[in-house]
Amino acid sequence: MATFQTLPGFREFYPEDFARRNHIFRLWRQTAGVFGFSEYDAPVLEPLELYKAKSGDEIEAQLFSFTDKGGRDVALRPEMTPTVCRLVGAKASSLKRPIKWFSIAEFYRYERMQKGRGRCFFQFNADIFAEPGPEAEIELIALLTQCLCAFGLTDQDFYVRLSDRNLWFYYLEALGLDELRIRAMLGAVDKFEKMGDDAFKSYAEQFGEPGDELKAKVLAFLRVKSLSAIEETVASLGGEKISARLADWRKLLAGLAAMGLERFVEVDLGVVRGLAYYTGFVFEAFDRKGELRALAGGGRYDDLVQKIGGPALPAVGFAIGDMTFALLLEQRGLMPALVQVPDVYCVIGGEKERAAAFADIHALRAAGFRVDYPLREMAFGKQFKAAAECGAKIALIYGGDELAKGTVKIRDLSDRSEREVPSVDVIAAVRDIFTG
Ligand code: HAM
Repeated sequence: MATFQTLPGFREFYPEDFARRNHIFRLWRQTAGVFGFSEYDAPVLEPLELYKAKSGDEIEAQLFSFTDKGGRDVALRPEMTPTVCRLVGAKASSLKRPIKWFSIAEFYRYERMQKGRGRCFFQFNADIFAEPGPEAEIELIALLTQCLCAFGLTDQDFYVRLSDRNLWFYYLEALGLDELRIRAMLGAVDKFEKMGDDAFKSYAEQFGEPGDELKAKVLAFLRVKSLSAIEETVASLGGEKISARLADWRKLLAGLAAMGLERFVEVDLGVVRGLAYYTGFVFEAFDRKGELRALAGGGRYDDLVQKIGGPALPAVGFAIGDMTFALLLEQRGLMPALVQVPDVYCVIGGEKERAAAFADIHALRAAGFRVDYPLREMAFGKQFKAAAECGAKIALIYGGDELAKGTVKIRDLSDRSEREVPSVDVIAAVRDIFTG
């Protein structure tokens, strides 16, 4: 007989895995709520066109796409950003501002599989629309940090690398590059950390080898790691655009410092992000040890809402992926055991006793207690063993003798002590045990 397996890179969630996933989603959701973000969702399957020339070549090459029975070219969503731009764009004028939205959803990319990378994964996305200034970046980087700290991670475990595509544009423009060359050069910068000198290949193929001087200047800028170094490097370029941008930088860093988040954030112009739509500040979160792939990434994308057919609307956001994040929690021993145990286990004699037990079981569950019992009749010995092993605090015993007396026996499973209570008082007695 044929056995079927999951497709490569796809995941199944057995209950223990699902409990971990729930734990992560619950804290993300709670954190987003505390920051005043509203939750939304959208379709998994989208028109292919939504991603073409918007997300960038890399994501486009990774799409799970096909033609549906109606002849439409469609794709499983590889990311949320174009979708959320459509949602917000369609109702931009009626949405209460600031527009602070989040979602937790599954995405699909036909990627080469590696540790922390799959073909389906979840992301927590948070985005702010209609806020052009760095106030939005402050709010989002604070949320990103708290989404990680909520699990017990600290500045010893992760950090956020902060960079700026605007500054890169101004810098490369001043070096004499036109827009196409600038975009190709940013592609090289994005890949430089992974590929070294080979990162410049694609630029060289399109525009010829970048001269040694240009390359040296790009590499020097890529290694800039502080605001003072930025100021030094771009000061000579002069101009209003540059001084306004430096003011944004100061505002952003001062806001983060005032929130006490300085220790999480490092200026690092080596980050430019691979996605095509970013226009300003960009950031990525990594584990401090540098062992894992990116935990999260984001940035400003002021043109995308309009490109997707909406009004001109500034936007900035980020996404945390669940896979690297879960690996980091496990590595740091911060993934709780999350075993679900019942509060009460019912040991039941025969058919008659079952009827009495069922009434209590249902009443206890309705009162919020986790109650378990053997679905089928079972020897007493086996039931006591199950009660002892399941982790419940107490067992309720519905035997023939008890039923005849109109009582139920309560056994404390930690010390095996027992007492009897009148049947009518069982619910109150259990409540006393758990609240008393
Ligand atoms: P991204 O950098 O492509 O950004 O993905 C964000 C995070 O999703 C990554 O840092 C990683 O943790 C996770 N991720 C991405 N691809 C995979 C994969 N194949 N397997 C496992 N995890 C993965 C975006 O998607 C942007 N749309 C984020 C954004 C929101 N920008 C603005 N708003």
